[in-house]
Amino acid sequence: MAKILVTGGLGYIGSHTVVELIQSGYDVVIVDNLSNSEQTVLDGIEAITGVRPVFEQLDICDEKAFQACLTKYPHIDAVIHFAAYKAVGESVEKSLDYYRNNVFGLIQLLTLMRKNNIPNIIFSSSCTVYGQPDKLPIDESAPRKPATSPYGNTKQMCEDIIHDAVVSYHDIKAVLLRYFNPIGAHPSAKIGELPKGVPNNLVPFITQTAAGIRKELSVFGDDYNTPDGSAIRDYIYVVDLAKAHVKAMQRLLSGENKAEVEVFNLGTGQGVSVLELVKTFMKATGMNLPYKIVGRRSGDTEQVWADNTRAEKELGWTATTPLDEVLRSAWNWEKQVRGL
Ligand code: NAD
Ligand code: UD1
Repeated sequence: MAKILVTGGLGYIGSHTVVELIQSGYDVVIVDNLSNSEQTVLDGIEAITGVRPVFEQLDICDEKAFQACLTKYPHIDAVIHFAAYKAVGESVEKSLDYYRNNVFGLIQLLTLMRKNNIPNIIFSSSCTVYGQPDKLPIDESAPRKPATSPYGNTKQMCEDIIHDAVVSYHDIKAVLLRYFNPIGAHPSAKIGELPKGVPNNLVPFITQTAAGIRKELSVFGDDYNTPDGSAIRDYIYVVDLAKAHVKAMQRLLSGENKAEVEVFNLGTGQGVSVLELVKTFMKATGMNLPYKIVGRRSGDTEQVWADNTRAEKELGWTATTPLDEVLRSAWNWEKQVRGL
């Protein structure tokens, strides 16, 4: 079976994808510098799959260490590239760190892929590249808007670098996956999201509030031009998202791709407002969730959801898990982490 290198494979989306890859029979090599994850994630992956994947702790920006790893594990068929920094606010404070890790890290990876004859890459991009779109739902032909943060800019730059490298050399094929809002945890509650400090994202904040770690949720804005006034997003279950990577991998490895670079939106195709999500959480878990309405968060877009038609048609993939089940998985994970 094909051998897949997963950068950032101990992180949130990486770990769920590693589980799906192993369960689909792939051989997995994980590289991660643990800058935003714990080595114990390997125990969770092993508990779910019965397989402990190879793990090398290294920074992908460290050329020597990365090449040594590729020498140790030769004949890699493809890379899934998750390793990056992802906090939008922090990227404004530490822009050079973000450009170095996300943009230089990718250049290093592509250079070493060419040197070591690794012909396929799947890249983690984001719906953030669309900004506030002119029409909804958003399909892949929608224009990218100027980035509103260094993080968003790194995603646009990385997409462009991959395009340009493919055009220059024609020895790498790429799939760019634009994730909408990944949420939830594995149904086993053995792996999930491990945010450090106060969570910026909505669902970890909700589960920590329900667990009593945060006093109340602040709902950022109820004066948007949406049915209930709160902002709308497309929340995609992380396990469904992970499965899309397996589909994209099968497509690349079997040569079914129709272009050297393909782009896919990965969302549910359904927009859900903050207040709807809060209510669904309470109903699904039976937990009370204290919340208050506060002003809008600066930089937020009003409403964003995906047109998934291309992923459906070309990858044969759709997100199938209902939102209440997804939110229960997030809550079960929070309870497991807190020993509740
Ligand atoms: P995460 O922080 O949980 O995982 C990233 C992993 O990469 C971490 O384990 C971290 O330790 C590792 N890493 C970071 N820099 C590294 C380096 N230089 N060398 C080796 N390892 C390194 O993040 P995630 O939520 O799993 O996101 C994965 C990818 O998906 C990222 O590229 C992110 O930008 C992208 N993405 C995430 C979201 C989201 O909401 N989580 C949305 C859109 C896109
Ligand atoms: C953010 C990032 C985006 C990234 C995504 C997933 C910004 C501007 N964008 O998207 O680049 O791809 O995370 O990591 O940060 N909300 C509250 N209260 C909270 C937290 C959030 O009301 O305590 C609201 C937000 O205003 C938003 C929705 O919940 O309307 C979702 O927020 P969040 O989970 O942070 O994701 P995004 O802002 O969509």
